Amino acid sequence: TAVLSVASEAYPLVKTGGLADVVGALPGALAPHGVAVRTLLPGYPSVLSAMPGGEVVAHFDDLFGGPAEIVAASPRGLDVLAIDAPHLFARQGNPYVGPDGRDWDDNALRFAAVGKVAAEIGRGAAGLPAPDIVHMHDWQAGLAAAYLAFAPHPRPKTVATIHNMAFQGWFPASVFGALGLPEAAFGIDGVEYFGGVGYLKAALQFADRITTVSPSYAAEIMEPDGGLGLDGLLRARADVVSGVLNGVDVEVWNPETDPTLASPYSAANPGGREANRRALAQEFGLDVGDGVLFAVISRLSSQKGLDLLADAIPTLLGVGGTLALVGAGESWLEERFSRLAAEHPGRIGVFIGYDERKAHLVQAGADALLVPSRFEPCGLTQLCALRYGALPVVSRVGGLADTVIDANPAAIAAGVATGVQFSPTTQGALEAALRRTAALHADRDLWTRIQSNGMRSDVSWDASARTYARLYAELARTT
Ligand code: ADP
Ligand code: GLC
Repeated sequence: TAVLSVASEAYPLVKTGGLADVVGALPGALAPHGVAVRTLLPGYPSVLSAMPGGEVVAHFDDLFGGPAEIVAASPRGLDVLAIDAPHLFARQGNPYVGPDGRDWDDNALRFAAVGKVAAEIGRGAAGLPAPDIVHMHDWQAGLAAAYLAFAPHPRPKTVATIHNMAFQGWFPASVFGALGLPEAAFGIDGVEYFGGVGYLKAALQFADRITTVSPSYAAEIMEPDGGLGLDGLLRARADVVSGVLNGVDVEVWNPETDPTLASPYSAANPGGREANRRALAQEFGLDVGDGVLFAVISRLSSQKGLDLLADAIPTLLGVGGTLALVGAGESWLEERFSRLAAEHPGRIGVFIGYDERKAHLVQAGADALLVPSRFEPCGLTQLCALRYGALPVVSRVGGLADTVIDANPAAIAAGVATGVQFSPTTQGALEAALRRTAALHADRDLWTRIQSNGMRSDVSWDASARTYARLYAELARTT
């Protein structure tokens, strides 16, 4: 099966979150299943600079206000098509927001362009071989489904994957005229959404199949709280909606070979963790002793519930814990954690910024990784934590609910516990989880067993790659 994967991020070319990890990892995971994936990306400076000597394979005279070339190359083993359209994408920094932190005011056109190019390539109209499937990730790719729905046959089949329902790509109705869609597309059965144009709505309206990144999140987004306006549409299309868990790249995340670690280790031979714990404590200036070394690696946004953790710091310290945090995002949270670190030297260490080496060291050295999200479509850091032997302490939502087995008495008796879950996502429930984690940690044999269960659990792409491959093959066969 030939798949055109369409997204605005792909690790290691451009990344703001887990979306990039998934889009970057899927092609490699799918190849053994006979699926050939080409990835269509906006030609951001970081993408084009990774593709020197790329070949121009198609051309658009006027792509929403300027010319565009489609450039093909294989940076870092990915088969990439980049949309080189300087008027839309030649901007330094973040893919979505300008230096002032506000959305680029032409985002409607920038991501309409992504959808338009995807649709043209999808139909084989750009002079490139047509794929069997166009797979759209999140709202930035979503308009492709609308362009294809109104294009003449033959058309490829389409899959829309929701990585985060909180970002829906809503624009005022005034943009509709510029999109080049027929008038009939502006309706409740089309791209119209709350009086404007919804790019994710378009994807969910027109895609042949809809997936999201965990079974629990698939259920959550069919309810008003999780669906945020799109739950009704999803319920109406429930027969084509499914949840497919993300995995992690187990080559990149392998404690036996990870070059960033102070000392390698494995599930069979976990002794090397201790040296990483010491290295982590030193790097973050922590006096850890016997208490739990808690850690966070996260975007700092209200989704992640880290304001609750800031409120729960007295409890974390009260149970003898210390905290290492690596994070960047909303400034009120950055400032809050920086202040906490200043107030509690030796107990709280904070790095504000994005740093992959630190993220690896934290996973290898921390006793427990905290993920107190209010909602979490899948979550990748808890998967890395399982593999690296940091016990995940997570809220029971979305993918966190589906990937961590709470150390309750039944799971302990059955020998299957891998972490700690709490619910609801409140300060009180988080504090109870911090106490429970400290109590588990005090029982070293039990702790080691839980840790070992986690390290042996399968967080790879194997099972889910097979699921996607089957989904593509089924779709490609239908007429
Ligand atoms: P989300 O996509 O909602 O941010 P995920 O858990 O799916 O959450 O993915 C986050 C990804 O970004 C993971 O690969 C994680 O290791 C990485 N990450 C997040 N914050 C940082 C940071 N400050 N430094 C390094 N890596 C980070
Ligand atoms: C989103 C979600 C996260 C998920 C990632 C990749 O960023 O917030 O939970 O793991 O997409 O699917």
